[in-house]
Amino acid sequence: MVNYKDLGLVNTREMFAKAVDGGYAIPAFNFNNMEQLQAIIKACAETKSPVILQVSSGARKYANQTLLRYMAEGAVEYAKELGWEHPQICLHLDHGDTFELCKSCVDFGFSSVMIDGSSLPYEENIALTRKVVEYAHQFDVTVEAELGVLAGVEDDVVAEESHYTKPEEVIDFATRTGCDSLAISIGTSHGAYKFKPEQCTRDPQTGKLVPPPLAFDVLEEIEKKLPGFPIVLHGSSSVPQEYVDIINSHGGNLPDAVGIPEDQLRKAAKSAVCKINIDSDSRLAFTAAVRKVLAEKPGEFDPRKYCGPARDEMTKLYKHKIIEVLGSDGKAE
Ligand code: G3H
Ligand code: 13P
Ligand code: ZN
Repeated sequence: MVNYKDLGLVNTREMFAKAVDGGYAIPAFNFNNMEQLQAIIKACAETKSPVILQVSSGARKYANQTLLRYMAEGAVEYAKELGWEHPQICLHLDHGDTFELCKSCVDFGFSSVMIDGSSLPYEENIALTRKVVEYAHQFDVTVEAELGVLAGVEDDVVAEESHYTKPEEVIDFATRTGCDSLAISIGTSHGAYKFKPEQCTRDPQTGKLVPPPLAFDVLEEIEKKLPGFPIVLHGSSSVPQEYVDIINSHGGNLPDAVGIPEDQLRKAAKSAVCKINIDSDSRLAFTAAVRKVLAEKPGEFDPRKYCGPARDEMTKLYKHKIIEVLGSDGKAE
């Protein structure tokens, strides 16, 4: 049994309380490799932003969970080395789907876990979430739950359509599960294709797809039912067009990729939404930089020469999100 507190990590309780009061959101960035982690920590150290490092089941399979946990421990020391005196870093399991997986993360030094029972019938979601909460809280590990279904891929769970969270269920769900935060569905989804072209309109000037707005009315209803309760938005990448263009003009093929416009996320961050999940944008930044270097220098074969620029591009992206979208800069001095 490893306690996250011995690793210099923090849970989400205090971060979320401050974010809800302060009208900003904590970035939750996924990581799968060293370059992503370096970029996240550098961006957060330079902006003094609290951060949630997310590990998905896919990341555990790709990078090995032991290695990832030690990397997160190393991240705390790296942050200090960069001059961040009191790093506020949470290590979080993203989309945990079983009690056993959540338990193993709690036992292994994670400071927060998500139990995603959103694809289960309501009562089963409550029972599973409650079981995880009862275990995790013994060790002061915080628990995120999910109610409502996001369209797209959630690790191994694929949903064709989204089902918005029902505001009339949230009080009962939060009370009976004892969860610390709640992921809701208001129109976001995972990946780089968040909307089908037929769900969008086209900007007459640029011809680019303009996605439909998020369901802020549903969010407001939920806030009214659970005042001050931390709300989480998954699937919140914006799919920056400049990365899509670089990828497509350097041998890639991402037709009609579309994300959540940043003004929508800015608006959400000022509300009870206090955790915003971003993964796909980092993948796009990484891929765009790698494709560009390899296309321009076909003789290059030193991975540092293309992973280095990818890391720089991700650092730029994370800082942009922190300062211009979430407003979490300067909140962890
Ligand atoms: O929720 C999805 C995250 O972006 C993680 O994706 O399962 O491919 O690691 P992944
Ligand atoms: P994106 O695919 O929009 O980056 O969402 C990531 C996410 O929600 C991770 O849980
Ligand atoms: Zn997610």
